[in-house]
Amino acid sequence: MKKILITGGEGLIGSSCIEFFIDKGWSVISVDNNMRGKIFGEEGSIENNVKISKKENLEMVRGDIRNKELMEEVIKKVDAIIHCAAQPSHPRSLEIPLEDFDINAYGTLLLLETVRKNNPKIPFVFLSTNKVYGDMPNKYEYKINKRRYDNSQVDSFDESMSIDKCGHTPFGVSKTAADLYCQEYAKNFGLTTCIFRCGCLTGKNSKAVEMHGYLPYIIKCAMTEKKYTIFGGGYRVRDQLHGSDVAGAAFEFIKNPKSDEEGNFGIVYNLGGSIKNSISIYETIDAIQEKTGKMLDFIEGKERESDHIWWITNTDKFKKDYPNWVITKDLDYIFDEIIEHHNDELQLNIEIKNKKYFKQ
Ligand SMILES: NC(=O)c1ccc[n+]([C@@H]2O[C@H](COP(=O)([O-])OP(=O)(O)OC[C@H]3O[C@@H](n4cnc5c(N)ncnc54)[C@H](O)[C@@H]3O)[C@@H](O)[C@H]2O)c1
Repeated sequence: MKKILITGGEGLIGSSCIEFFIDKGWSVISVDNNMRGKIFGEEGSIENNVKISKKENLEMVRGDIRNKELMEEVIKKVDAIIHCAAQPSHPRSLEIPLEDFDINAYGTLLLLETVRKNNPKIPFVFLSTNKVYGDMPNKYEYKINKRRYDNSQVDSFDESMSIDKCGHTPFGVSKTAADLYCQEYAKNFGLTTCIFRCGCLTGKNSKAVEMHGYLPYIIKCAMTEKKYTIFGGGYRVRDQLHGSDVAGAAFEFIKNPKSDEEGNFGIVYNLGGSIKNSISIYETIDAIQEKTGKMLDFIEGKERESDHIWWITNTDKFKKDYPNWVITKDLDYIFDEIIEHHNDELQLNIEIKNKKYFKQ
């Protein structure tokens, strides 16, 4: 049986990857130290976040990816790695820049070096972010169209966008460093790395807080009648990709790692929900009201540092290399799953109109 290491295995993407790979018959080791609880407080804690029935092939280690001995021991035993552990919030990184760098940049470098020394042939998938492009998307022209911004120049952003001469926040910088290290370790040391620059990722497993986990957090606020702050206006657009579809993309690469034309790994792919799964903040508020009858109570706040006005991912490059990969979860499914999950966790009983998601 093949074995995979999932770092940050109890967070949103890590736990989605655990569910996916256990289902595919893999054995999984997760390393997570609940740093999320430390970074965001009790509301963000990932304690008991992995709820799967088949636990016999799952080993959960409460540990830090920066623990060299621990990572050496684990990495020697596995056939693949998905690296999801991170300080994941750009506004929070402005408050804790050193910790942010230490986890995101140094933590990733240490993992790569440990792989190089102990198990250099295994596929290594890194969860990077569209924040490596900084606020470059904000240099485009936007027009208001009903309840959202439309981009007047392009319909989505591909990998050709520059990462220079724009604002990143410390988070964008630490993730860019990690992203480039993954490329360098492929080029210089022959590691089988792959980099996903992701848009907004989502799903029931998000321990959403104001500073991270946009969609589950805004839905939670509406359901619990908590005031929500819209930072920088409600016409802003994001695309949403469910965690299980991220896991599916990682699975495709791990099954069949692809290199570039020169034979190097370290290929960069933009990964996100694309046009069909895109939604503005105002449209999100409308959709929540339509589904639950709850009208969000909100105030308008100041724009966040280097926040994207509009991001829709162009996934053509990944789809060309991996034509089997499709987005399986649309916005209706995603909303319904999150509402059901909040109903369970917060002991609410809010009915969903025209439900598309049914708990197994
Ligand atoms: N959620 C998104 O919208 C989004 C968007 C783009 C990219 N990403 C990237 O995807 C990855 C996963 O994000 P997520 O949304 O699942 O975040 P998450 O916070 O839900 O999960 C990250 C997990 O890593 C753990 N962790 C942090 N530091 C650690 C350390 N030093 N040692 C061990 N574990 C540690 C946390 O406790 C948490 O469980 C991150 O790299 C993030 O930057 C996420």
